Amino acid sequence: MSKVKVLFVCLGNICRSPLAEGIFRQRVIEQGLSDHFDMDSCGTAAYHIGKGPDTRSMANAEKNGVIYDHSARQFDVQDFYDFDIILPMDDSNFEDVISLRPPDAKAKVMKMRHFDPVDRESDVPDPYYGGEKGFQEVFEILDRSIDGLLEELIINNVTFLSAM
Ligand code: 4NP
Repeated sequence: MSKVKVLFVCLGNICRSPLAEGIFRQRVIEQGLSDHFDMDSCGTAAYHIGKGPDTRSMANAEKNGVIYDHSARQFDVQDFYDFDIILPMDDSNFEDVISLRPPDAKAKVMKMRHFDPVDRESDVPDPYYGGEKGFQEVFEILDRSIDGLLEELIINNVTFLSAM
C-alpha cells in the first residue's frame, strides 16, 4: 500500500510548518501509523532556506512534549506531484501555492485549520514577531488541527482525498 504524503506549508518554514510536521510525525509514530504516512514541510518564501526551526518554537514545543528538527526549504511546483495533500497555514500561503498549481497537479490543497474542530475558517497566525503566548497559541491550534486531520484521514480511510 502506498503511503499518503502530507506537506505542511507556511511562509518561512521555520515556525509553523516544521512544527506541524513535527507534531504530525509524533502522532503517526505514537499511533503505529508510520507505514501509512510520509510528511514534510516547506515555505513559500526563500528567506530561511537551509536554516533549522525557530528556537522559540522548538522550546515551546518541547514544553508541550514534542521534539522535532527540520532544514528549511522553499515550496516547489514538483511538490504538486510528489504529495497527496498540501496544507498551507494561512490565506496568503494558500494563494501563493494555488497561484503555482499546474492543471495536472496530483495534490489537494486545503488550509490547515479546515481540520481544526474549534474554528475551521481562520488562519494559523504567524508567531514570528510575537512572544511566547503566540507560540503557545500556534502549538494548541496545530495540536488540535493535526488530531482532526489524522482522524479524518483514518476514519474516512483517505477517501476524502479522491472525493475532492
Ligand atoms: P513561519 O514564520 O512562516 O511560520 O515560518 C515566519 C518566519 C519568518 C518570517 C516570517 C514568518 N520572516 O519574515 O522572516
